[in-house]
Amino acid sequence: MSPTLPASDFSATSKPAFYKTLVAQVEAVLDLSLPLTANLANISSVLFYALTDAPVSRKINWCGFYLTEDATAAKPRMVLGPFQGRVACTIIPFGKGVCGTAATKRETQVVKDVHEFPGHIACDSASESEVVVPIVVGDVVKGVLDIDCLVKEGFDEEDRVGMEAVVQKLLVLWQ
Ligand code: SME
Repeated sequence: MSPTLPASDFSATSKPAFYKTLVAQVEAVLDLSLPLTANLANISSVLFYALTDAPVSRKINWCGFYLTEDATAAKPRMVLGPFQGRVACTIIPFGKGVCGTAATKRETQVVKDVHEFPGHIACDSASESEVVVPIVVGDVVKGVLDIDCLVKEGFDEEDRVGMEAVVQKLLVLWQ
């Protein structure tokens, strides 16, 4: 069964308008009767192609999820989840790289130049900038949403706000 998406017009010339459409698309694709993997797989596709098509977006090359394996572990780590893009590293410990930093700090990381981020994990050497949003449910970090861009300064404050709104919409998947 395929989800029915509302007509999507990603031609908005402002990021707030673009993200409003994107959040509506994300909401439309969620199916709470299905497992997390099915939902995140379709969400990564919605995000990847919306960002690829949008005039307000820079060229992205990777978009997906890392999911916390055992949040109660002494040294928690995340495992690669559903994504769009090239083969990526499979395990990221909390505290490592941009993803692990977002998970530990519980704060979105907007990295304008990945080469200047200490400990950045280079999965795809073409990536130049990155945004990582932690997925926090109650007191638990369930994982992160990670998006890579082919150009420096691919993401800004408006993207941070928009991506955080996307992740807010996803929290229902863990409830
Ligand atoms: N660059 C990330 C690793 C994941 S890939 O970008 C898909 C990081 O430093 O955590």
